[in-house]
Amino acid sequence: MADQTKLVWDQEFRARVGKTIAYISSVGKTLSFLDPTSVQMISVVYVRGYPILVYRSGGEERTYLAGCPHKRRPITAPGYEVKEYRIIRCPFHGAEFDLLSGEMIKPPDSKTPCPSPCRLIRAILKDGDVEFQGEPFSPELPKPK
Ligand code: FES
Repeated sequence: MADQTKLVWDQEFRARVGKTIAYISSVGKTLSFLDPTSVQMISVVYVRGYPILVYRSGGEERTYLAGCPHKRRPITAPGYEVKEYRIIRCPFHGAEFDLLSGEMIKPPDSKTPCPSPCRLIRAILKDGDVEFQGEPFSPELPKPK
């Protein structure tokens, strides 16, 4: 599984860098500043059935359960945003989390408070398995009404 994770990363990395080069080329700027270690990437891999958010930026890597602790929704569902290269915004109620620390930095816009501790759950990938620093859950989309 570790190899598969790396493969996904390599593919995403090439795709992202390729897009960046295409964009930079299209606006006619030099490529000389393009430093692969400064490219921010988010991807999701599955380990033991859990979706794992992998974040890489500037040589740093963090892995988390890809679930928002507020209502246990998939935090990388369509509509999520990454702000200032390191803050992820949940698409459901707008809670924001620091991708380097996992800490919540903006609470959800919801009457339902986020259960404590309201932070992303770190996932430690090792030998094709995963350990969580917290109680993992399976993120689910809202049920259709
Ligand atoms: S589920 Fe993420 S902010 Fe509510």
